[in-house]
Amino acid sequence: MRTEIRFLLNGQSRRVTGIAPHTMLLDWLRSQGLTAVKEGCAEGDCGACSVLIGMPAADGRSLTWLAVNSCILMLPQVDGCAVVTAEGLVGADGMPHPAQTALADTHGTQCGFCSPGFAVALAALSRRPERDDETILDAVAGNLCRCTGYQPILQAARVLPVIEATSEEAVMAAALCADCAEPLDYGVDGRRFVAPHSLDDFLAALEEHPDAWILAGGTDLGLRVTKRHEEPACVLSLARIPELHEIRRGERDTVIGAAVSYADALEAVTTLAPSFGEMVRRIGAAQIRAMGTFGGNIGNASPIGDTLPPLIALGATVETVSRRGRRSIPMEDFIVGYRKTVLGAGEIIAAVRVPYPQPTTWVRVYKVARRIDQDISAVSAAFALDVEDGRVVGARVAYGGVADRPVRARDVEAALTGRAWSLETARAAAPAVRRSVSPIDDARGSAAYRTAVCVNLLERLWWETAGPAGVPSTLGALEEVA
Ligand SMILES: Cc1cc2nc3c(=O)[nH]c(=O)nc-3n(C[C@H](O)[C@H](O)[C@H](O)COP(=O)(O)OP(=O)(O)OC[C@H]3O[C@@H](n4cnc5c(N)ncnc54)[C@H](O)[C@@H]3O)c2cc1C
Ligand code: FES
Ligand code: FES
Repeated sequence: MRTEIRFLLNGQSRRVTGIAPHTMLLDWLRSQGLTAVKEGCAEGDCGACSVLIGMPAADGRSLTWLAVNSCILMLPQVDGCAVVTAEGLVGADGMPHPAQTALADTHGTQCGFCSPGFAVALAALSRRPERDDETILDAVAGNLCRCTGYQPILQAARVLPVIEATSEEAVMAAALCADCAEPLDYGVDGRRFVAPHSLDDFLAALEEHPDAWILAGGTDLGLRVTKRHEEPACVLSLARIPELHEIRRGERDTVIGAAVSYADALEAVTTLAPSFGEMVRRIGAAQIRAMGTFGGNIGNASPIGDTLPPLIALGATVETVSRRGRRSIPMEDFIVGYRKTVLGAGEIIAAVRVPYPQPTTWVRVYKVARRIDQDISAVSAAFALDVEDGRVVGARVAYGGVADRPVRARDVEAALTGRAWSLETARAAAPAVRRSVSPIDDARGSAAYRTAVCVNLLERLWWETAGPAGVPSTLGALEEVA
């Protein structure tokens, strides 16, 4: 076992010992004098702390560069990676990175507090060939600016050149893989961070430390440190177990490993159902989707976990593993209360298995929040409707944000099944919708608002699937029709 954290920081090899394992990368970087990395919110919402992480590909021949929030990333999570701060974007010749030049040239910075974070987000964008507005907005949606205004920053993104990978990066990737070939078992003052390289080793470590935090991307767990000031005695990381990073597309279903990030899963999920892909694209912002995982969303068991209603509607099963063996649990039975799952001691989520919808199944997934990006759902809903000859022959309906857990709305399914798929049927199911949900009042919406949204989404489903031809799936278009 390796007992020191090893990574590259702005191109230099770093070996760290003696720092508490739950120390956030942000705090450590600032302690090293790298103060371009700012703390705005300490909860992943503002992007001021963004850094670039280069993760070696499985074959060790290249690095994948992603912007992440260093405020909710524990220092040992960057073991085996290349970390680049805004200071490190500057080239060996002392010249600024094209992202920095673009920000300066378009007057994209005023007080400068947000600018290092934007420079990092744009540097991540510079690795992508697309420069359409959607890609650009997506790249900077996780970064807040309070004074410049966004137009100059978006203009900087538009003039940014595409930057190709260099041969140096392949060398860095190979060196990181060789340097970190042994699993990390890092400890300071009785606190540990262990990152096993196999499922068997992980389960053995979990048996040894039954109260350990099971860490995937840390986009939920990180906040327990930064907001609740908890200090875990032991953290077991899933990040280095190859099996958990696999996406397997079979004949009947797609299996997504528990540690697959949203960024990596997006294409497979979009293939399963485009509106599910659109929902995943709206989870947090790019920095969150770079680290957040399907296993983390399911394991977190939040009533507003965005992937949960679509997984229920698609008939997904959660695949678990422990030293006692493997289990397959229907998604709708996996969460049994507020943040409570059926997982037993020593058991973890290995993957989620999602069947392909039939070609005749209409799948629609909706997220209703106050903003498009970087916002938590007030309500979410997912529908999988089988319609033959204009009649509903099967329905799976699920809602999020309306109870202590995501709910499968069997009453609504019964109210739809066997009837003509018409606006009248959608409206007649309203009482069943009201019976199926029991939302609360909170900052994101009142109980009455949430219930009304659930009812309206069923009607919207009809407009989008069977309404007059040419009605696109936007509320604006619906208003025009009305
Ligand atoms: C700024 C911000 C925006 C966000 N926006 C959204 C959003 O729009 N929609 C949304 O749904 N969520 C959102 N989240 C929450 C979070 O990003 C997601 O829940 C994410 O899927 C968590 O994944 P993770 O890998 O980071 O989980 P972690 O934080 O690593 O873990 C979360 C929980 O799951 C458990 N866990 C993780 N993996 C496993 C496993 N394999 N087996 C058993 N237990 C496991 C952990 O022990 C922990 O209890 C947001 C979070 C932040 C900070
Ligand atoms: S400090 Fe706001 S996202 Fe990290
Ligand atoms: S330049 Fe001041 S916050 Fe963006």
